[in-house]
Amino acid sequence: MIKIAPSILSADFSRLGEEVERLESEGADWVHVDVMDGVFVPNITIGPSVVKAIRPRTAVPFDVHLMITSPERYIEQFADAGADCITVHVEATDDVKGAIDMIHGLGKKAGLSLNPETPFSAAEPYLGHIDLLLVMTVHPGFGGQSFMPVGLPKIAAARERLDALGSEAELEVDGGINCDTGRQCIAAGASVLVAGSALFKCPDMGAEMNLWRTFRREGADSQDS
Ligand code: DX5
Ligand code: ZN
Repeated sequence: MIKIAPSILSADFSRLGEEVERLESEGADWVHVDVMDGVFVPNITIGPSVVKAIRPRTAVPFDVHLMITSPERYIEQFADAGADCITVHVEATDDVKGAIDMIHGLGKKAGLSLNPETPFSAAEPYLGHIDLLLVMTVHPGFGGQSFMPVGLPKIAAARERLDALGSEAELEVDGGINCDTGRQCIAAGASVLVAGSALFKCPDMGAEMNLWRTFRREGADSQDS
């Protein structure tokens, strides 16, 4: 089943609690939270205290994407704030396995993310240990950028390896996702679409997400879920 994770980076930050409630009423599968530190990426967004403040406003799982250097410094704080899945970047730490173990030790799902220029091979040693692989299709830092097609072969390679391993890990894609690019990513084997600007500017976000849920993997039977 395809999951849709709207990114609150495109929400109205002055009304973040209401925006999160709205995502639940529109039928979002996850709330995607983009955390930036001004070092790993050239932007600063939200920290654990904001996550903690908005967490009680919905029962929808929080998918926290840490675009921060040495994420192990803050994993526990985001876990305590109510993150359900915590994703770290392979480029952001010298001890990827240690970060994954730390997330699991706190009882949370662990994700690993790849920047557009990072080859899939960088994630390969960890595939058996993660719950989610996040393929970035923009340079992280800002919403509203254009999709980089370089992500498509990476998604296809990841899908092949995850299937070969019998892994149930989600394969998430993030950056420049709209109806057209989302369809291409699902066709290539993605299972979760993150989208900020395309969904938040949509007059009917719920209907748009329902449309995206009809996308199918290339070669899949149209009756499959
Ligand atoms: C980019 C973030 C994305 C971003 C997506 O650094 O990780 O989650 O918010 O925004 P859109 O969908 O507008 O590209
Ligand atoms: Zn993100």
